[in-house]
Amino acid sequence: MKRSCYCGKVDESFIGKEIVVSGWVHSRRDHGGVIFIDLRDREGLVQIVFQPEKKEIFAQAEHLRSEYVLSVKGLVRNRPEGTVNPNMFTGKVEIVVNELEIINTSPVLPLEVDDYKETSEEIRLKYRYLDLRRPSFQKNFILRHRISQTIREYLNKEGFLEIETPFLTKSTPEGARDFLVPARLAHGCFYALPQSPQIFKQILMVAGFDKYYQIARCFRDEDLRADRQLEFTQVDMEMSFIDEQDIMTIVEQMLAKIFKDVLGKEIQTPFLRMPYDEAMLRFGSDKPDTRFAMEIKDFTKELANCGFGVFKNVIAKGNVVRGLCITGGAKFSRSEIDGLTKFVGEFGAKGLAWMKITANGAESNIVKFFTKEEIDTIINKLEAKDGDLVVFLADEVDIVAQGLGALRLKMGKQLGLIEKNKFNFLWVVDFPLFAWDKEERRWVANHHPFTAVKDEDVDKLTQEKAGEAKARAYDVILNGVELGGGSIRIHKSDMQSKVFNLLNITEESAKEKFGFLLDALTYGAPPHGGLAIGFDRLCALLIGEESIREVIAFPKTQKAICPLSNAPAEVAEKQLRELGIKINQKKQVNAEEK
Ligand code: AMO
Ligand code: AMP
Repeated sequence: MKRSCYCGKVDESFIGKEIVVSGWVHSRRDHGGVIFIDLRDREGLVQIVFQPEKKEIFAQAEHLRSEYVLSVKGLVRNRPEGTVNPNMFTGKVEIVVNELEIINTSPVLPLEVDDYKETSEEIRLKYRYLDLRRPSFQKNFILRHRISQTIREYLNKEGFLEIETPFLTKSTPEGARDFLVPARLAHGCFYALPQSPQIFKQILMVAGFDKYYQIARCFRDEDLRADRQLEFTQVDMEMSFIDEQDIMTIVEQMLAKIFKDVLGKEIQTPFLRMPYDEAMLRFGSDKPDTRFAMEIKDFTKELANCGFGVFKNVIAKGNVVRGLCITGGAKFSRSEIDGLTKFVGEFGAKGLAWMKITANGAESNIVKFFTKEEIDTIINKLEAKDGDLVVFLADEVDIVAQGLGALRLKMGKQLGLIEKNKFNFLWVVDFPLFAWDKEERRWVANHHPFTAVKDEDVDKLTQEKAGEAKARAYDVILNGVELGGGSIRIHKSDMQSKVFNLLNITEESAKEKFGFLLDALTYGAPPHGGLAIGFDRLCALLIGEESIREVIAFPKTQKAICPLSNAPAEVAEKQLRELGIKINQKKQVNAEEK
């Protein structure tokens, strides 16, 4: 029997025809001497019917269990009145079986192939082949495939060349920990798996390829979260003889095409562009979720001379006071407010000042320290209403922004202010080129050290002024998630050396790490720039999944383990010998995790 149609594609156009379908037994119901089976394949389910008149087949059908693999030949007919299922593509028809072949059996499953049953992640990943059989998962991967095809189609049309770059390479500068691969032919030497194709794509520009892209795997040994994996996929691109505007337009048009072709949704382009400083001030984040308002307001000027010592002293030291109005928060209990204080404490805040807004004005233990004018300013600026709670942080600007930014998000979620079906894109631009590393007491690159400074800030490339220099960098944000980022690069080796200098990377160390790029830049490098989009994040957001693990076929657990293959695992003594490696101390991988 050779399959003539996918289960999930059988519709009324097949009525009266005999067809062959193959797939897995999804569910089985016995009704008054008739056996109904939902047979499942990649495209969906179809109902097949075994009638008692066909004694031999019926007897076989009585032995069918979940996840047996079948091929059946049968006649497609309308379902009897009253049994039509309007929620299924195949819900109007059924197949009356004339021939049955049981291709394979299955023991009782360790998890149910049902969209609505919750199973532990450990079990789901161990039996990932069963987990992936879920109709919702099959849909996710069909969509992921369509998204990557749409991307390729778009970039090919725009004249980009798809070029692969090596996995076995040298350390790259994205700032995470590298995965290292020992070299058999040079004991004591290691390849690094690339954190991104950054250096190679720049070299491809020097080589004259003009427009490059790659749907590239990247490797970063960092702590895992819902939106982070050890290996993940980027839509990586680079172009020559362009500026920021060109790259942003390409990315906007590509995203618009994906949303149109895959979701049938129109998104508005160009996206809003928001300077970094504004994003930090209004949303307390460099990846603002603009699906809801509840914006942060600054009171540093207005409260500089207020009677509340905490604020006054903080401001006198050159730090800031900012506030947030939590809609309906006046009903929070003291312990709930203590909870919020603890929450912002995780970001370094030393307390959380608050006022409840009631019909009689502001109420709290600190209201007495403020004049009526100051209270009015607070209420007006935050547009606070009866029933709201206003909260303040007074501290260094980064702590205040981060604390209030995180609190804003937490409250937005808790109060149900975030519209689920919205897709809010924006660009964050005008990033600072450098950040001050307090521990190491030196400047570090905010993006990566190949990012160009804005033309008007070239004179700020000094130890004293570096904090004011802005980068020609841009991040694309969707619903509060950093979807991608990129920059215009430095294409002159003297400028590159100057930046390395500022970063306290010695000439020697720069040569050792990135010498091949520095050399390449001396041989007529064109002006160039690019961007990389986190492909897993894009897929998860588009499909509406919370975690990128739902759009990655074989992800790792939180503890960086693959329960399916049991990786990472020990290797044979002989393999270690060949690599010149001796293990000093074995660190036990958590046994029950494996
Ligand atoms: P960046 O480091 O910002 O830039 O990475 C680009 C995008 O990749 C995604 N991403 C991740 N996704 C899943 N798991 C991870 N561990 C992870 N880390 C990053 C994010 C991020 O926005 N070479 C530069 C790009 C360039 O300048 O052209 C780069 O890699 O969505
Ligand atoms: P205290 O004067 O220490 O009793 O603090 C009065 C209120 O101010 C309490 O609600 C504290 O949580 C809050 N508070 C203390 N330090 C800060 C700060 N740096 N920023 C915001 N609120 C603070």
